[in-house]
Amino acid sequence: MTSTSKTASPDAHEAAVRVAIEDRIAIVTIDNPPVNAASHAVRAGLLEAVRTAEEAGARAAVLIGAGDSFVAGADVREFGQPPRAPLLPEVVRALEKTPVPFIAAIDGNALGGGLELALGCAYRIATPRAKFGMPEVNLGLIPGAGGTVRLPRLVPVLEALMMITSGKPVGTRKALDIGLIDDVAEGDLLQAARDLALQIDGRERPLALLSREPVIVPDVHSWQIAVNDATKKTRGQNAPREAANALRDAIDMAPDAALEAERARFLKLKDDPQSAALRHIFFAERSVARMDRLKGVEPRKVDHVGIVGGGTMGAGIAAATLLAGLPVTLIERDDAALEAGRERVGKLLDGAERRGLIDTARRAAIDASLAGATDYDALASADLVIEAVFEDMAVKTEVFERLDRATRPDAVLATNTSYLDVGAMAEVVADPGRVLGLHFFSPAHVMKLLEVVHPPKVADDVLATGFAFGKRLRKICVPAGVCDGFIGNRIMSAYRREAGYLLEEGALPHEVDAAMTDYGFAMGIYAMQDMAGLDIAWAMRKRRAATRDPNERYVDIADTLCEAGRFGQKTGKGWYLHDGTSRTGRPDPEVEAIIVDASRRKGIERRSFSHEQIIDRLLGALRAEADAVLAEGIAASPDAIDVVMVNGYGFPRWRGGPMFATRKG
Ligand code: NAI
Repeated sequence: MTSTSKTASPDAHEAAVRVAIEDRIAIVTIDNPPVNAASHAVRAGLLEAVRTAEEAGARAAVLIGAGDSFVAGADVREFGQPPRAPLLPEVVRALEKTPVPFIAAIDGNALGGGLELALGCAYRIATPRAKFGMPEVNLGLIPGAGGTVRLPRLVPVLEALMMITSGKPVGTRKALDIGLIDDVAEGDLLQAARDLALQIDGRERPLALLSREPVIVPDVHSWQIAVNDATKKTRGQNAPREAANALRDAIDMAPDAALEAERARFLKLKDDPQSAALRHIFFAERSVARMDRLKGVEPRKVDHVGIVGGGTMGAGIAAATLLAGLPVTLIERDDAALEAGRERVGKLLDGAERRGLIDTARRAAIDASLAGATDYDALASADLVIEAVFEDMAVKTEVFERLDRATRPDAVLATNTSYLDVGAMAEVVADPGRVLGLHFFSPAHVMKLLEVVHPPKVADDVLATGFAFGKRLRKICVPAGVCDGFIGNRIMSAYRREAGYLLEEGALPHEVDAAMTDYGFAMGIYAMQDMAGLDIAWAMRKRRAATRDPNERYVDIADTLCEAGRFGQKTGKGWYLHDGTSRTGRPDPEVEAIIVDASRRKGIERRSFSHEQIIDRLLGALRAEADAVLAEGIAASPDAIDVVMVNGYGFPRWRGGPMFATRKG
């Protein structure tokens, strides 16, 4: 066997694409860590590699990614810059046109531009764990290198529609089913690709996708239904709709014209404010955890986590921790509560197993790494303990006193409190420097957001440990200072307050909710409260009643509902009537009467509000509170606020978050 090796581009990026000719097979390796993004050096290197393979008279070529990924997409760092030739469409074309049949050998991610490269190849084989997707809509874009034209010529049109409008990747089994790949490589991927290269030697090359017809074109009616279905959840967003339009072009137009139309749509979307908003939040999420004071600070080691309280949150945090591969000791008040807590964790793990996130062997290992106790001494070896007991300062401080006695003096102690003063909890511990807040969101094993709350005395390495732990759980960690409700809950309180004013002044719950869903929230504030239950917030308001400023404008409508036993879905009535006729309930004249009466008691003349006026008021209140949170240093940057509101409170991602959406100028 002869083997020559040649780098494809002799400039500074020479390592981005390597070509080795072995046994007349060109092995083209894309090596652009960390994810083999299709950056300029890769694109240039690939064009060169095609030429190299041709000049060598290769019988076939294997296109493979170094490391554990194929190509995860375009290089996001190039987004803000003018495009630099060669562009991806040209590279895909070159792969498609060369007489040397290219085999895409896919492990890890073939996403966006990566999948488009694979579509330019004559064959595609993949490992069982590969992922294939067109995630461009997540950044407000559509594929721009022929994806919308080639994909429906390889897989059924409606499958392509799903993939491109949802942005969700499919796995290897599905990819094989729909014809996206030719074969699965169970063993060594490169060897399987080489074997395929030998098999196809002398065979006629399959027709390039552009020369094929779309696969299983649906009739107009089915198409329309599918498009409505696919874009229903993304109402208000331009990219998914444009993706569907581009696919329609791919069916109706000649391939070359469809490619041009795709490019035009892609370029138009690139300048669309929605795409700017989505890119803003994408980058904000990736930079928001950085804190200057933590530069070069080593986190403490965390190999064993204690969790106090196995309720809704404690169980969710335990599941998230276990799924991240860390052993957990769960502490509860008594044996019955402990058993209930364990059951809760078990159910969450069942869910993970059902969704294929873990297999039975892994499940068994996880079960074995969950311990339970009612005695805090079981936390003697814990490196990090998170408390998620009742939201009550007296209960929390007692827990911290016990933790101070039971844990190692260097163990990190965290609270999941929603509103309470983390600094005050730290004061009951001999070394307050080891206490911080880790504020998870419900359900904790699903929600990506984690507010890492830093009380005044927290030690740097303790704070760094909070971030490292959050990262290990694959959370988006946002630093937050101590105040009532930190970043998110504090801003949401202002928002809720304003919504209450609107009710008193003339709006009705379903109008406020409709304005919010029109704006892009998945759910309105009142529908959400009905789902979560009104009783907990009521209890909190009663606790705080004594210390409330009597001059503060206070809306008592929610209290009146609670006094009438209207706690939301669980009691069949809340802001809405839940009689099973609709998922979120329907407006209830009784509630309207309560609201109208509240206005009358305060002498407020009711008037009507348009959706736009409602949103203006709500966003105005939100923005004002956000500005205060920034001024007080509770949030380090406007980006932090956007990331919190988008990931924790359903603020529409494609609006970029409240700060981005209300930016001036
Ligand atoms: P929960 O009532 O479901 O669970 C609390 C658990 O703590 C119960 O299982 C109880 O038996 C246990 N517990 C109480 N005192 C204890 C003690 N001294 N030692 C050991 N265990 C004890 O409450 P949930 O909703 O899980 O909330 C817990 C904490 O998380 C609260 O501080 C809450 O504000 C916070 N939180 C809640 C969120 C939510 O959406 N429910 C979201 C984020 C934070």
